[in-house]
Amino acid sequence: MDIARTREASLSRLLMAYVSSGLVFMLLPGTFLGVWNLLQISGSQSAASVSPAWLQAHGHAQVFGWIGSFILGIGFYSIPKLRGATKPAFGAAWACWAMWTIGVAVRWAANVYGWQWRLLLPVSGVLELAAFLIFFRAVSQHRPEDSGKNRLDPWIWVVVSASTGLMLVLIANVAACVYLALRGISPALPHVLDQRYLAMVTWGFLVPFVWGFSARWMPVFLGLKPIRAKLLLSALVVNFAAVGLTLAGWGGEATVLFVVGTAMAIAALRMFEAAQQEPKTRGVHSSFPFFVRMAYGWLLVAALLGVGAALWDSSGGIWGASRHALTVGFIAVMVLCVGQRILPAFAGMRLLWSTRLMFAGLALLTTGCTLRVSSEVLAYQGYANWAWSVLPISAVLELAGITAFAANILGTFILEPSHVHKQPLVVGIGQPSGENHAV
Ligand code: HEM
Repeated sequence: MDIARTREASLSRLLMAYVSSGLVFMLLPGTFLGVWNLLQISGSQSAASVSPAWLQAHGHAQVFGWIGSFILGIGFYSIPKLRGATKPAFGAAWACWAMWTIGVAVRWAANVYGWQWRLLLPVSGVLELAAFLIFFRAVSQHRPEDSGKNRLDPWIWVVVSASTGLMLVLIANVAACVYLALRGISPALPHVLDQRYLAMVTWGFLVPFVWGFSARWMPVFLGLKPIRAKLLLSALVVNFAAVGLTLAGWGGEATVLFVVGTAMAIAALRMFEAAQQEPKTRGVHSSFPFFVRMAYGWLLVAALLGVGAALWDSSGGIWGASRHALTVGFIAVMVLCVGQRILPAFAGMRLLWSTRLMFAGLALLTTGCTLRVSSEVLAYQGYANWAWSVLPISAVLELAGITAFAANILGTFILEPSHVHKQPLVVGIGQPSGENHAV
């Protein structure tokens, strides 16, 4: 039992390292730079006023530095094999953390400062890919027998496809970095290449990850009816077909398929159907189910704005609004919801520091996102000049919401006591937090 507790404590330390570095990336290189960029853009009333290398530095820090670190940390924590493992497996997980963190930090610095970028871009890309391969190896050693079943649950297929999407994105990233090092005139990807790469990042990796984890956790957390597994897998096929079409240069047509895939996924997850059980909101704010559903509403908005962008965008504003409806409205809101639901338990069976701060963060982020998405279309497209003055407000609200989330998680890690030595040890991905936790 003591060995199990010591392992649990080591796993929690590992998870907290991934989550803490993810929060640092989210706050400064990610959100702060994003806010700075948006203030510059609104000040000069032109999206072209900011260096593309800075915009891409922001996007990379958010997607890989924040979301990527969270995925790797939660993934390592949840692999049952690691629970029976001795030191070497932990060594690999820590090596992965160091390589990933250095890789993302180097990429950000090379993009922002432009120092030695021809060398540093490929180095960072290779470090990120190598870190991911360490993770992939650990995850792929997890066989169905480990969970006592012969068949994998549908949600696992969705997460595996998302992980494959992430691997392909990282390979494409290395190729793009090498291309830039040899042929580029700056550390920024050329516009057309960047747009296609972003479709891979958002729809080919981030969205399927959230669908997979929603399929696993939302029936429990929200008390939803069991998922329609075949429909979810079909949604995934439609979604990946749309990513393929975008890469082949049929981006406009693909936007319609993204709407279809999203609608199918929402129906498969039964997100807006009446729940069959009470939601499990002990330990989190009672608005948790509302915000999870709102995130799926944002995903639909993002997909529909994509169709609008293909038809009418003349400034990058509708594309930008669609992208942030997806990254902030869907991904960030889901991370704020699910993160505060599961991370306290995973980090040594703690309680969330403040449920009110959780609500405040989500309310600020979603208000900021609403202002951002609507005024980005109006301002960039030239439909309404006053919308330029709303954009800075939206940025500050989003920053405040994200900061509240970081404060709540760090407050949980630092100020809340760990119950790892008091509770029976039954934590894991198959055991959504709270059920095993003193909440
Ligand atoms: C406070 C919140 C945020 C602000 C103020 C912000 C601001 C910006 C701005 C000004 C751009 C340039 C394009 C445009 O004008 O739309 C941009 C691009 C982008 N943002 Fe954000 N952002 C925020 C949050 C996020 C989050 C949470 C994510 C991801 C999880 C994200 C991912 C991206 C990506 C991928 C791009 C495209 C970069 C590229 O052109 O390659 N952003 N952001």
